Amino acid sequence: MIDLRSDTVTKPSAAMRRAIADAEVGDDVLDGDPTVRRLEARVAELLGTESALFFPTGTMANEAAIWCLGKPGTELFVHEDAHIVDREKGGASALSGMAPRLVRGAPRVTLDTFKASVRAPSGYLPRATLLCIENTHNGGGGIVTPAAELQAIAAAGRDLRLNVLLDGARLWNAHVATRTPLADFARAVDATMVSFSKGLGAPVGAALAGSRALMDDVHEARRRFGGAMRQSGVLAAACLYGVEHNIARLADDHATAARFAEIVRTAPGVAVTTPETNIVMVTVPATTTPLEVERRAAARGVGIALWDTTRVRAVTHLDVTIEQVEQAARSLVAVLADAA
Ligand SMILES: Cc1ncc(COP(=O)(O)O)c(C=O)c1O
Repeated sequence: MIDLRSDTVTKPSAAMRRAIADAEVGDDVLDGDPTVRRLEARVAELLGTESALFFPTGTMANEAAIWCLGKPGTELFVHEDAHIVDREKGGASALSGMAPRLVRGAPRVTLDTFKASVRAPSGYLPRATLLCIENTHNGGGGIVTPAAELQAIAAAGRDLRLNVLLDGARLWNAHVATRTPLADFARAVDATMVSFSKGLGAPVGAALAGSRALMDDVHEARRRFGGAMRQSGVLAAACLYGVEHNIARLADDHATAARFAEIVRTAPGVAVTTPETNIVMVTVPATTTPLEVERRAAARGVGIALWDTTRVRAVTHLDVTIEQVEQAARSLVAVLADAA
């Protein structure tokens, strides 16, 4: 199968597996794991923050950040199809007692859509304490919020005394696509989540980065949420390998995604996003459904993911070549032509 369902499907390479095998480890709950410490220091250095903490998953890192930066009984601003609101099983409400205030319209949060979602304070309405921004924005088709715009949106949030969380699961892609230092994104916000298990090819792992004071709180929350791990250097070694070897090559994934979109756009009745990074969203014709397209593509050996009621998603990554991506795109065109 040519698997474009997600960039999370990548398998650790032989070199990454060697790094895992060679990892120096210790108990990270007792007195520290040296490889985890190295990873955390490297992430803090890249993001220009005082500190960073390793997490098993991006979801746990996001939810720990929401716990620390939000407040029960208050609202968090979040785009209507952001991972935090749509794909974390209501975690912000269930774990931190927060209600989402959806930022609607446009394929990602913009300064205008954020401002339009802010209501005048009132004795009836819940207060808001947090603004979450996803960059790149998955549901919009891996689109980038440029650092200057992110800074402007975050500043507007701060004017309202909101804390700001950046869900940067694919911030690496935004950094490569815009050639902007990672720190230019991270310094706009209070906490940045980055993931190692997507384009960087590690089997698991994420980090949360921010000020030392915030990370002290996050350290407690991580333990409370069950994310304090023991000899986790075996995982951190894979993540470090990804950080040191697989960031610059994300440009290849962006190029293959552009080629995929170019081919799929020739199918009748589709709307295809113009990828800024490694994600392509395809709105299927009204004569079929995303579920049907997903099934028929799978029958032809192509993995694409059902995204919502109108779209399927394809994601390029380090385990697929340009030839495979072109072949997958042609198969998808055939599926869509059959459905027209
Ligand atoms: C934008 C975004 N945020 C957070 C996550 C969560 O990461 P994890 O799968 O490590 O929990 C994902 C995963 O796909 C994501 O796409």
